Amino acid sequence: MNNFFNVRMLEFNSIGDERGKLVVCEGEGDIPFALKRVFYIYGSSNSVVRGNHANRKSEFVLINVSGSSKVKIKDGKGNEMIYLLNRPHTGIYIPAMVWKEMYDFSADSVLLCLSSEHYNQDDYIRDYGDYMRQQNEWDA
Ligand code: TYD
Repeated sequence: MNNFFNVRMLEFNSIGDERGKLVVCEGEGDIPFALKRVFYIYGSSNSVVRGNHANRKSEFVLINVSGSSKVKIKDGKGNEMIYLLNRPHTGIYIPAMVWKEMYDFSADSVLLCLSSEHYNQDDYIRDYGDYMRQQNEWDA
């Protein structure tokens, strides 16, 4: 399985008027899956690297609703991409089995994470060697 090339930026409709902006992210619409979990990350310094894992089943959309951060994705086969999240009406869609690292958090970064699954630690692959082996097994 190689979902690496299905990672993409999403642009949400930003409804603006004199009162400010309102962004809607509907599951199975703007978000390409039904939402089961929302969490958010803030207070991470710019020297921290978070994530460092792939998920067997969970899909994610990450949105910097405030500030900025970067997301590096890898497929365990030499492909890498870096995305900058710095606009509250855009997000990155990350399918299952894509390695992800979040870093370079601005002081005001609030990274909203939407997931297709409830939290299950067995869904997480946290060792990059294990991830590479799993990816290569798909090819065998
Ligand atoms: P972790 O997966 O290390 O966060 P990140 O990938 O963003 O660096 O999670 C940190 C801790 O929080 C870890 O003990 C697991 C726990 N956690 C939950 O209990 N539920 C959740 O939905 C998430 C994302 C983490």
